[in-house]
Amino acid sequence: MSKPRIVLAYSGGLDTSVAIQWMKEHKGVDIVACAVDVGQGVDDLEEIRQRGLDCGAVESVVVDAKAEYATDFIAPALKANAMYMGKYPLVSALSRPLIVKHLVRVARETGAAGVAHGCTGKGNDQVRFEVGTMCLAPDLDTLAPIREWGLSREASIDYANERGIPIPIKSKDSPYSIDENAWGRTAECGILEDPWAAPPEDVFERTVSVKDAPEDPEEVVIAFKAGLPVSLDGRELPLNELVQELDARAGAHGVGRIDMIEDRLVGIKSREIYECPGAITLITAHRDLEDLCLEQELADHKRAEEGRYSQLIYNGLWWGPLKKAIDAFMDEANQYVNGEVRVQLYKGSATVVGRRSADSALYDYDMATYDEADQFDQNLAEGFVKLWGLPLKMWSAKTGANGDQV
Ligand code: ARG
Repeated sequence: MSKPRIVLAYSGGLDTSVAIQWMKEHKGVDIVACAVDVGQGVDDLEEIRQRGLDCGAVESVVVDAKAEYATDFIAPALKANAMYMGKYPLVSALSRPLIVKHLVRVARETGAAGVAHGCTGKGNDQVRFEVGTMCLAPDLDTLAPIREWGLSREASIDYANERGIPIPIKSKDSPYSIDENAWGRTAECGILEDPWAAPPEDVFERTVSVKDAPEDPEEVVIAFKAGLPVSLDGRELPLNELVQELDARAGAHGVGRIDMIEDRLVGIKSREIYECPGAITLITAHRDLEDLCLEQELADHKRAEEGRYSQLIYNGLWWGPLKKAIDAFMDEANQYVNGEVRVQLYKGSATVVGRRSADSALYDYDMATYDEADQFDQNLAEGFVKLWGLPLKMWSAKTGANGDQV
């Protein structure tokens, strides 16, 4: 009788490579390895596919999901200016639901009984993998071999050597735990666990330090249609390519470094370092264009929804109904977000220095100006101010509550 199959989210790294053998031994299952390229900078997908087989998987699948990641995951996050705790553009939280989607698809195609991930028990990613799977395929089991097994790095290497599992050779062994994709790069562990210690330069890969950034600023013009960037400096690009190019250009000016104490869903506060040059530049530009184009009540409500939306993505609820409902709101609001933004990249900052929108700007020079072109009827202001303040005036007269203030 053939053994039940489990589809493992395979990165090609040490942990998931040894997890294949461990699950075979301890769970009596066959493993289908599934590696998903979300722009983490893998050079050779075929090599990872082969490595999965060499480590003992019965089947190994690789998916180039870079374009899908941009259109279906980065795009809605950008429309919502999604930043957890107002700082973190949700890099890992955004890629997990896409990886889950492919794990479940491969599970269906290979008749698997469940899926597995290589997360520990201390992070948010385990939640995203498992809750995501519950949402997309409530009948599938989830295995968490690393959480269950709890091996140290050295023990994993010994285990691999004893069983002849080919250990992936990395040119440099990072002292940090890294996750990355097209929307940014995350780093934790090592010296970073001391929140007082400034992050050493070797943490960073996508951004130069401000002291090494060019002396001259660079300007980029980003055009948006319905809330999404469609061109850079007049060159139309598919979203994934646009994000990639902007990430490199902004990173070269040291834009997008984030050093924060983060509230994890599992209750721990952790110190995290992020590099998100492209994401920070795009969110900065997108927000600014919204300020030009969105009616004030809508803009105000949108800001409130953005916080809620970011939190639910962080908390692994991507495939739930609230996410879908807020997306509908975000799409509706973003239909007005059309135009261009000039962003100056300089010494660690992405600063908006100009914006315009032929079709959607609610800014009106004749209304705003203090010079002779002024069309704003200042006589209307008198009655407006009287009525606006009327409730407070009546309250104050009636209660005398502010009598002791002056
Ligand atoms: N703290 C971030 C988050 O929860 C990043 C997690 C990075 N994951 C990793 N396996 N290193 O989204």
